[in-house]
Amino acid sequence: MRDALGNVSSILVFGAGSDIAQHTVRRLVGTRTRTVVLAAHHPDACAAFADELRGLGAATVEVVAFDADAPETHEALVAAQFDAHGDFDVALIAFGVLGDQDEAERDVDAALHVARVNYLGTISVAVPLAQRLRTQGHGTIVALSSVAGERARRSNFVYGSSKAGMDAFLQGLGDSLVGSGVKVMVVRLGFVHTKMTEGMEAAPLATTPDAAADAIVAGLARGAETVWVPTAMRFVMSGLRHLPRAVFRRLPI
Ligand SMILES: NC(=O)c1ccc[n+]([C@@H]2O[C@H](COP(=O)([O-])OP(=O)(O)OC[C@H]3O[C@@H](n4cnc5c(N)ncnc54)[C@H](OP(=O)(O)O)[C@@H]3O)[C@@H](O)[C@H]2O)c1
Repeated sequence: MRDALGNVSSILVFGAGSDIAQHTVRRLVGTRTRTVVLAAHHPDACAAFADELRGLGAATVEVVAFDADAPETHEALVAAQFDAHGDFDVALIAFGVLGDQDEAERDVDAALHVARVNYLGTISVAVPLAQRLRTQGHGTIVALSSVAGERARRSNFVYGSSKAGMDAFLQGLGDSLVGSGVKVMVVRLGFVHTKMTEGMEAAPLATTPDAAADAIVAGLARGAETVWVPTAMRFVMSGLRHLPRAVFRRLPI
């Protein structure tokens, strides 16, 4: 349960190797989060981060193996973590792949990998999560979506469509949970400097994982359902969304 000041006591992270996730968890442990479960694609790579969190004051930090592309394992993994640790205040869905757009336009396996991890992986994690949170009667699912899902662009529509799908699913899930005590917070990120975007030319309004973590923690504190990072992206995307297709297609984006 959150404490009397509304601070998050416990968090379960899917995709714990994510730079944005790690900045967020670090921030939360600094404000009294004491139980942290890190479900990671490469658990060994999270060992040093787990030690860091213990040093910052987290009482329980566990790292478990997680593959977003193995949906048949997700329900059992979620159940095992709730059975072992009791309630979670926050479940953070942070995994994702950008994929290679050119390759995905020619190779069906490459395109499907992006869809399986980003879209189907989110569904197979979020459904059992929502069920456990419903049962406990409180908690927030926080999911890292993208402005790329707001309107599919020629240059990255494979990734963008997978994010559109996960974003729509989570919004609907949030609506289905009204009155249960459980919330879903969708975080629509613009360009953030992380491992995922390393070597890429920064997009306008590019930001840092630190700033993204600030926005996520602030969103949690105010009970937000949608968070845009940075905030101005909301207005930029609103404009782009309504451009006639023939104009949108010609933009260098
Ligand atoms: N950075 C941006 O500009 C940006 C913008 C919009 C949205 N986002 C979203 O924000 C989220 C976090 O991304 P990030 O920027 O923090 O990048 P990141 O550091 O590359 O994090 C992505 C994480 O997803 C994990 N992952 C990939 N495939 C997985 C699988 N099959 N099973 C489990 N985990 C898997 C990666 O694990 P391994 O590296 O160990 O494989 C990595 O830890 C992603 O959903 C991304 O789409 C990012």
